[in-house]
Amino acid sequence: MQYITNPDRYKDMTYNRCGKSGIKLPAISLGLWHNFGGVDNFENSKKILFKAFDSGITHFDLANNYGPPPGSAEETLGRILKSDLYPFRDELIISTKAGYTMWDGPYGDFGSRKYLIASLDQSLKRLGLDYVDIFYHHRPDAETPLEESMLALDHIVRSGKALYAGISNYGADDTRKATEILESLGTPCLIHQAKYNMFNRWIEEKLLETLQAEGVGCIVFSPLAQGLLTDRYLKGIPADSRAGKSHGFLKVEQITPDLLGKISELEKIAIRRMQTLAQMALAWTLRLPGVTSTLIGASTVEQLVNNIAALQNLQFSSEEIAAIDGILK
Ligand SMILES: NC(=O)c1ccc[n+]([C@@H]2O[C@H](COP(=O)([O-])OP(=O)(O)OC[C@H]3O[C@@H](n4cnc5c(N)ncnc54)[C@H](OP(=O)(O)O)[C@@H]3O)[C@@H](O)[C@H]2O)c1
Repeated sequence: MQYITNPDRYKDMTYNRCGKSGIKLPAISLGLWHNFGGVDNFENSKKILFKAFDSGITHFDLANNYGPPPGSAEETLGRILKSDLYPFRDELIISTKAGYTMWDGPYGDFGSRKYLIASLDQSLKRLGLDYVDIFYHHRPDAETPLEESMLALDHIVRSGKALYAGISNYGADDTRKATEILESLGTPCLIHQAKYNMFNRWIEEKLLETLQAEGVGCIVFSPLAQGLLTDRYLKGIPADSRAGKSHGFLKVEQITPDLLGKISELEKIAIRRMQTLAQMALAWTLRLPGVTSTLIGASTVEQLVNNIAALQNLQFSSEEIAAIDGILK
């Protein structure tokens, strides 16, 4: 059956400018880390992607190693682009990354020019694309000179294989150095991808301020703490949940009684706001002006729809912020 897009898909989504660039990103972006691999149900992955695009989510985020097996999330998107979404290529921002272990030997990991360029070539083959919109160095590498990794990003952009360069998981000081190198090369850093949620607030300390000073956008990942900041685990560990699956990155040991107590308290505030906990957790990440987009995952269309509805209430009173801080401290 041929996919027919929703003609109203841009009506309700909010788009935020990414740093000082010409690009705007949807306030909610979709990541393909889990639920889009070779182990997952292809038809379900397809439905989630279609629903996202139909809801104005123009940005899909990948990395070379997403799956499992590694590479298979890019293959899944590649198949769906080929069958249905390719006519909309110019309406999409597709990103991928390299930086974590991808292949055996000394050249399939970290931040060398050799790894970054070879990995993007492999990603493009899996995606069936000539270029991605954003290519990221996925994590800092203390052993490779920063100049080498940034020169590789600059080369990739100049070669036309990516339109923009990004960095991920870099601390504030390395971010400043990296953005200065990229700026001097004439390939400004578009965006930083950093973990941020109610349980992990490290970007508030220095990173956001650095990014704003450098004019770089910020997309925050795992805003639901991989599903913890939802009602998913309040009544046990469902077998089909990330923590319930053997290949899920969230481990049962992380779901402690103390954490569950906090999650229940947070949910009470969400209910008073007439939101689900997931919606409140997403709105909370978007309350900071430096955050361009919040990058979610979803295992079902229902979760995705529920999450997008977070955009209907992004305001927090100072009492609500104080109450949330009180629970998190
Ligand atoms: N740069 C990096 O180093 C890095 C690292 C990690 C992630 N990322 C990016 O960030 C993206 C998002 O990360 P994430 O998947 O950890 O994000 P997340 O939004 O924190 O967690 C997504 C998971 O939460 C559960 N969930 C989502 N909506 C829900 C709802 N409304 N109700 C109940 N449960 C809900 C689902 O888990 P179930 O499967 O249990 O249903 C879903 O798979 C990734 O896909 C990737 O693109 C980047």
